[in-house]
Amino acid sequence: MSIPKYLEEFHPTLRLLMGAGPSNVNPRVLRAMSMPLLGHLDPDFIGVMDDVKAMLRLVFQTANNLTIPVSGTGTAGMEAALVNILEPGDTFIGAVNGYFGLRLADIGARCGAKACQVDIPWGQPVDPDAVEAELKKHPKVKAVTMVHAETSTGVLSPVEEIARIAHRYNALLILDTVTSLGGVEVAVDKWDVDVCYSGTQKCLGCPPGLAPITLGPRAEAVLSSRKTPVQSWYFDLSLLRSYWGDNRAYHHTAPISMIFGLREGLRVVLEEGLDARFRRHGRNAAALRAGLEALGLELFAKEGYRLPCLTSVKIPNGVTDAKVRTALLRRYNIEIGGGLGPVAGKVWRIGLMGENSYPSSVFTLLSALETILGEEGYEVAKGRSLAAAQEVLAG
Ligand SMILES: Cc1ncc(COP(=O)(O)O)c(C=O)c1O
Repeated sequence: MSIPKYLEEFHPTLRLLMGAGPSNVNPRVLRAMSMPLLGHLDPDFIGVMDDVKAMLRLVFQTANNLTIPVSGTGTAGMEAALVNILEPGDTFIGAVNGYFGLRLADIGARCGAKACQVDIPWGQPVDPDAVEAELKKHPKVKAVTMVHAETSTGVLSPVEEIARIAHRYNALLILDTVTSLGGVEVAVDKWDVDVCYSGTQKCLGCPPGLAPITLGPRAEAVLSSRKTPVQSWYFDLSLLRSYWGDNRAYHHTAPISMIFGLREGLRVVLEEGLDARFRRHGRNAAALRAGLEALGLELFAKEGYRLPCLTSVKIPNGVTDAKVRTALLRRYNIEIGGGLGPVAGKVWRIGLMGENSYPSSVFTLLSALETILGEEGYEVAKGRSLAAAQEVLAG
């Protein structure tokens, strides 16, 4: 009798994860995650929690006391940010220049708050003037929400100016840095961001499962003066603050192994140094873009606002999206991302995040793309994209 498939061992193929996330995980992080468990109130684990808080402050570039990893993926960070700040009857402005800006606006509206959406064409950055024009229309806005690095389009938006504008109207700025933290600068204190959250699976080199979040003094004051309890017990930051703070009051059983992994991932980031890491992401993205353009492909995100961690590129006419991505995956073990929402089937999204932002990933992908695009009938001069990327890296 043959054994059912589910009783067989599963060994995933080693893929080069160059999509929109998750990206590959640093082996040190995987090793840390396989360490023996500690109890979640064990004094040794409390030491690990303190290390994680201290290192998250360095990576967020903040002195904010309330800086912790929320249990859950990036969307958990998003939910936590919104449910703690917004109450029924509040008004907030959701700047939407892509799929994740829209998700923020959707979750905010589910908190019972009135969502005023500022729509920006996909591929463009959030426009500070458009945000200000919307702020002027409403007497009392509690918060402005925006995505720093919009993963659906590969656009990096300016934050500091929008934070200044929001504060001029007594609104908080809630910022998504799921695809930017650890890959491009995120300076929470310098930019005066009130609530900032991220995810572990992109530029921090860890698996999905934790959402680092930080709240500044204005946001903590709003949290403390709420009229209604936070709708979500699990994401209530005033309860989580007690667990992660001095009280160590039981809230939920922390995902111990994930936190071991994050501790190691943050050590890797800080050993490299933030500036060196940002430079590395910038250099490799420039090489990839040069290679893609040498193939005659057109970049999607507006020039000057292109995100180093994720490059969006238009799929050329006559080339079938799914065929190329399937060939990359099946024959070369490379994953890249397809488009989301209105750009589905129109763009590819290529991640160079954390562990993947190296010249080897750039050359592996460009070389495979040259072959596959040639087979699809798209005219390719063999080696040209590699030469263009080499030139950038040599310069
Ligand atoms: C900018 C941005 N925000 C939020 C999320 C949601 O994160 P998750 O899928 O980990 O819940 C993502 C995921 O790709 C993202 O790119």
